[in-house]
Amino acid sequence: MNIQHNISLKNYNTFGIDVSARDFVAVSNTNELLQVLQQNKKDLFILGGGSNMLLTKNIEDALVVHIHLKGKTVIDENDDYVWIQASAGENWHEFILWCIDNGYGGLENMSLIPGNIGTAPIQNIGAYGKELKDNFIECEAVEITTGSTKTFNKKECEFGYRNSVFKNELKGQYIITAVTFKLTKKNHALNTGYGAIENELADKNITNPSIKEISNAVIAIRQSKLPDPKILGNSGSFFKNPVISQEYFKIFNNKFPEAPFYEVKPTQSNSKLEYKIPAGWLIEKTGFKGKQFGDAGVHKNQALVLVNYGNASGKEIWDLAMKIKTAVFEQFGIEINPEVNIY
Ligand code: EPU
Repeated sequence: MNIQHNISLKNYNTFGIDVSARDFVAVSNTNELLQVLQQNKKDLFILGGGSNMLLTKNIEDALVVHIHLKGKTVIDENDDYVWIQASAGENWHEFILWCIDNGYGGLENMSLIPGNIGTAPIQNIGAYGKELKDNFIECEAVEITTGSTKTFNKKECEFGYRNSVFKNELKGQYIITAVTFKLTKKNHALNTGYGAIENELADKNITNPSIKEISNAVIAIRQSKLPDPKILGNSGSFFKNPVISQEYFKIFNNKFPEAPFYEVKPTQSNSKLEYKIPAGWLIEKTGFKGKQFGDAGVHKNQALVLVNYGNASGKEIWDLAMKIKTAVFEQFGIEINPEVNIY
């Protein structure tokens, strides 16, 4: 176990926040991970792709474990489907490109989402009408306290909108080491209904898109709206889109009939009809879109995304986020909450 000390985490988080880890170890296989779990006596801070976190202080009380597990294996296939297991440290987007090159469909709408395979299930990542859970079969995880391995099937993951059991009851208890997906080899279930994809394909005169063309359309849409973290530090959507009750929606919609909204259909666990309001719209109406405060700012094309123009500290980004939250609440009576994890 090769523990390094006083390592800058600037290149390990897509916000590009320069905090340091007093103790840092990268694990390249499950055995190394188990060794760390056995030998270490401190708390652990699990670092995957660093794409969904805001670091506001140096990490001094925990051992930072960078999950660097690599590999992808076809574990089963028939004429129609393929089951692929990908290791936690594989980059999400590169994995999708590899799937597309091999003719495997299902994940193309989620092209270019930053982050790694292992963190994708934690918040059930999604974009343009698809979510990770749609192709998810199971994931393997190691329990931090015991080092024992457990396989979680889809039901056990309790996936919801940007949510899973790993953000709730099991928060901080397991490290996901690999994820198995079921993908199509033919008759791909294309999902092009999302307005922006339809428009992008129409612009290119594509009527019968391949999975590659859908991926390219998504890449073009994302690049036009969302900043590339390699160029401008960010963590994708900083806030979740808030969900409000039907009663409050009536009041809101009366006052702001121009606001976009989506119905959230009742589910088994929640029998009430609710409404999701895009936080990007709410934030834009408060006037924060495109604003910059020092090196912390709100992206000019997508108000949901907070950005680091260079040397913003995590605290500066956080203070801006709280200013936005307050402004949205004062103007609309709606609470918005971060999607990213804050440390
Ligand atoms: N909107 C505005 N102003 C803005 C941004 C959005 O008015 O600055 C309005 C748009 O006009 C549209 C609505 O809000 O009517 C929704 O916007 P968009 O389709 O861009 O999606 P979003 O709700 O802002 C969500 C995800 C994104 C994902 C897109 C596309 C969340 C928190 N975010 O954003 O995910 O890419 O849908 O599916 O659910 C991420 O999680 O990091 C992420 C980027």
